[in-house]
Amino acid sequence: MAKEKIAYVCTECGYDSPKWAGRCPSCGQWNTMKEQVVRPTSAAERRAAPGFTFDKARPVRLEEIATGEEPRIDMRDEELNRVLGGGLVPGSLILLGGEPGIGKSTLVLQTVLRMPEQRVLYVSGEESARQLKLRADRIAHADTNCLIVCETSLEKIYAHIKETQPDIIVIDSIQTISTDTAESSPGSIVQIRECAASLLKFTKESNIPTILIGHINKEGSIAGPKILEHIVDCVLQFEGDQHYMYRILRGIKNRFGSTAELGIYEMRGDGLRQVSNPSELLLTDRHEGMSGIAIASAIEGIRPFLIETQALVSTAAYGTPQRSATGFDLRRMNMLLAVLEKRVGFKLAQKDVFLNIAGGLRVNDPAIDLSVISAILSSNMDTEIEPTVCMAGEVGLSGEIRPVSRIEQRIAEAEKLGFKQIIIPKHNMQGLDPTRFGIEISPVRKVEEAFRILFG
Ligand code: TYD
Ligand code: MG
Repeated sequence: MAKEKIAYVCTECGYDSPKWAGRCPSCGQWNTMKEQVVRPTSAAERRAAPGFTFDKARPVRLEEIATGEEPRIDMRDEELNRVLGGGLVPGSLILLGGEPGIGKSTLVLQTVLRMPEQRVLYVSGEESARQLKLRADRIAHADTNCLIVCETSLEKIYAHIKETQPDIIVIDSIQTISTDTAESSPGSIVQIRECAASLLKFTKESNIPTILIGHINKEGSIAGPKILEHIVDCVLQFEGDQHYMYRILRGIKNRFGSTAELGIYEMRGDGLRQVSNPSELLLTDRHEGMSGIAIASAIEGIRPFLIETQALVSTAAYGTPQRSATGFDLRRMNMLLAVLEKRVGFKLAQKDVFLNIAGGLRVNDPAIDLSVISAILSSNMDTEIEPTVCMAGEVGLSGEIRPVSRIEQRIAEAEKLGFKQIIIPKHNMQGLDPTRFGIEISPVRKVEEAFRILFG
């Protein structure tokens, strides 16, 4: 047996090094290098590891590779099919991420239960078979061809696969399984990386699609390694507030389709229901007749989402007015207030201003400037902004609306979520075909123009 070694692995990017460092030399994050025990495997050991052996790949000419439409597996779930880019691609490795308790296991289980023609092997490392049965009973289903096994060893999982010959494999969750080839505890970076890499190789060689479920940590990345995102073909994220029933399924990465798609579900007593008309989601949260609310089409990372900015402006009782912002940079808010004062002539110096980004989110996207400034003005004038209007635009010092990135994605998201009108920077109209969208697009050059649209 090979000797054990200590390695330091970055929890953010998976970079490893034999020496510790305060700052990861690869991604530059501080204090992310964690000690891991690794037992290097000899080539002989690796060959002897249980699992499948396949013919060696050989280089072929590009012309010889058969293409044609990839036959996709219909998941019997429109939202999921759309986010996957038209169904599950054979031989693909999918990662479904989300916070604990959000409904990942429910989503996957109810989907596989609806596909009786596919033999599914559901590997659970978290719940007992009884728990799974109880959950399956809550979700209405007919005859199924789903096999459940509670297992955490990757080598044993391969043995089960060999025995059962499934069409689809589900692993719930990647953080609970471990392989003998890496000797650190399950859930550690080394284990996750080894298992995911091994599963990737397996799915490619066997052509059996595999769905991995993964937990997300507080920062919103798949717990531990970002490297998982590099390994898999698709990363789907299941999001939502546990206190609300709505869930959003988003593609973050997709080798076989667009990441601009999203799926919306409602968590019910009998599983997740697809929400095909998203405006019903907005209708329930109507703020009819309420001032101080503006909706922004924002992007964090590569993900577009619509977010509510709320402002409250009231007369300052004493001396220095109060300014407070949650989820938004206070200095930036002060700058926007100065722009408002200068351009629109509102005397905000005697007013308290409170700003809140709904859902406790922190947004760094400058495109929400326009909604921040509109919400403040709406509260100050006590005039409601039409709830079917949303906006995106960065505000410059002279009150000009500056262009924002990925405008098409923002518009598509607003349209998908049922908005009727979106205010965007005029500069972004270049190269944009407004007829492609089923939403009214209102380009503006200055904040005054935006205010005229919003408040007449
Ligand atoms: P679960 O799928 O276990 O979440 P995850 O796998 O992401 O950790 O979902 C857990 C929650 O979903 C739990 O709080 C109960 C709720 N739930 C329903 O509301 N309805 C249902 O039909 C099911 C199965 C779960
Ligand atoms: Mg679960």
